[in-house]
Amino acid sequence: MKKILVTGGAGYIGSHTVVELAQAGYEPVIVDNFSNSRKSVLDGLRAILGHDVTCYPIDCGDADALRQVFKTEGNVQGVIHFAAFKAVGESVAKPLMYFQNNVGSLLTLLKVMPEFGVESLVFSSSCTVYGIPDALPVTEATPTKPASSPYGRTKQMCEDIVHDVSAAPDNKLHTILLRYFNPIGAHESAQIGELPLGVPNNLVPFITQTAAGIREKLTINGSDYDTPDGTNVRDYIHVVDLAKAHITAVQRLLDRKASDVVETFNVGTGHGNSVLEVVKTFEQASGQKLNYVMGPRRPGDVPAIYADATKAADVLGFTTTTSLLDSLASAWKWQQALKNVGN
Ligand code: UD1
Repeated sequence: MKKILVTGGAGYIGSHTVVELAQAGYEPVIVDNFSNSRKSVLDGLRAILGHDVTCYPIDCGDADALRQVFKTEGNVQGVIHFAAFKAVGESVAKPLMYFQNNVGSLLTLLKVMPEFGVESLVFSSSCTVYGIPDALPVTEATPTKPASSPYGRTKQMCEDIVHDVSAAPDNKLHTILLRYFNPIGAHESAQIGELPLGVPNNLVPFITQTAAGIREKLTINGSDYDTPDGTNVRDYIHVVDLAKAHITAVQRLLDRKASDVVETFNVGTGHGNSVLEVVKTFEQASGQKLNYVMGPRRPGDVPAIYADATKAADVLGFTTTTSLLDSLASAWKWQQALKNVGN
C-alpha cells in the first residue's frame, strides 16, 4: 500500500481526506499536534474504517520529530500538507503566530522531505489568494491580489515558497496546490465533521449550533453588498467532495502525470450561493426555522467569490457531486450526532 503522510490529518478537511485515502487503497499516516482538533476524531476514523489509523501527535514545525516519523514509517510516498491555522480574525490579532505556524511548518516539511526521498506534495491553499477579484468566476489564471489578512498572506507566501523551491536547478519536488473554496458538511456516517473549538467563525457551524440551541441567533454579516440579495456570495463545497480532490491529486503526482513541477487547481463547485440562500436551504434541509438577523459587514470579507472549476474537471477529472441541500443536511446530521454524544 502506498503510504501518504497527512499533516493536520485530525482536522476537518484532513480527517475526511484520511477516510477517502484509506478507502482508495492508500495507507494514511497522520501527523497532528491537536492544537485545533480533538483526539476523538481518531475514534470516528476507526468507526468508519474498521481499523486504527497511525497518528503521531507532533508539531509539523518540529524538524527532528518529523524526521523520526519518516524514519519510523519508511517508504512514505507523498505528503498532503493541511496543518495550519485558519481563523482570519485571529490572524489579524496574532500575525506572528500565523507566519510562524503556517509558513514555518511548510519550510520544515520542504527541508525534511528530500532527506527521505519524498518528492510528491499536495498543499492546502485557498481562494483567499485571489483577494477581491475583478471578475467572476475566478480561474487559476486570475491574478492574485493583496491578501486581506495575515492568514491569507500565509497562503500566498506558501504558494510562492513552493514555486521558488521548485525552480531550483536540483529540485525533485512535484507539487499540486489546491485552492479550496468554502468546505461545508460532514461525512455521511456522522462519525467525523467540523469540530470548532469555542464560538465558530465559519458560517455553517454557526448555523447548525444556532439551530441546536447552542447559539441564540445567527448574525448575517452585511446585507448591503452589490450582490443579488445584498449578502456575500461564496462557493460552498461538500467536504467529502473536497477530500476526493486530494486523492486524484496524489494519484496524479505518484503517476508522474503532472505537466509541470507545480500545478494549481481551484477546488469548488463552480456555483456561488449567498449567505441568505445558505440559510434558506438549511431551513429546507433541517425542517427548522433559523433565528437570524441582519448585521453589519465583517471587516475583511470579500463581497463575492466562486470558482471556475473547469481546469480541475478537464485535467484532474474532478467534479463535485453533492448539492448544497445535501451538504447542509449532512452538517445538520453531524450537529445532532454531536449533541447525542454530549460533545
Ligand atoms: C474565509 C476565507 C477562506 C478561509 C476561511 C477559513 C475568503 C474568501 N475565504 O472564508 O479562504 O479558508 O475563511 O475560516 O477569504 N457569515 C455570516 N455570519 C457568521 C459567519 C459567517 O454572515 O456568523 C458569512 C461571512 O461573512 C461570509 C460567509 O458567511 O460571507 C462565509 O463565511 P466563513 O464561513 O467565515 O468563510 P469565509 O470568510 O468565506
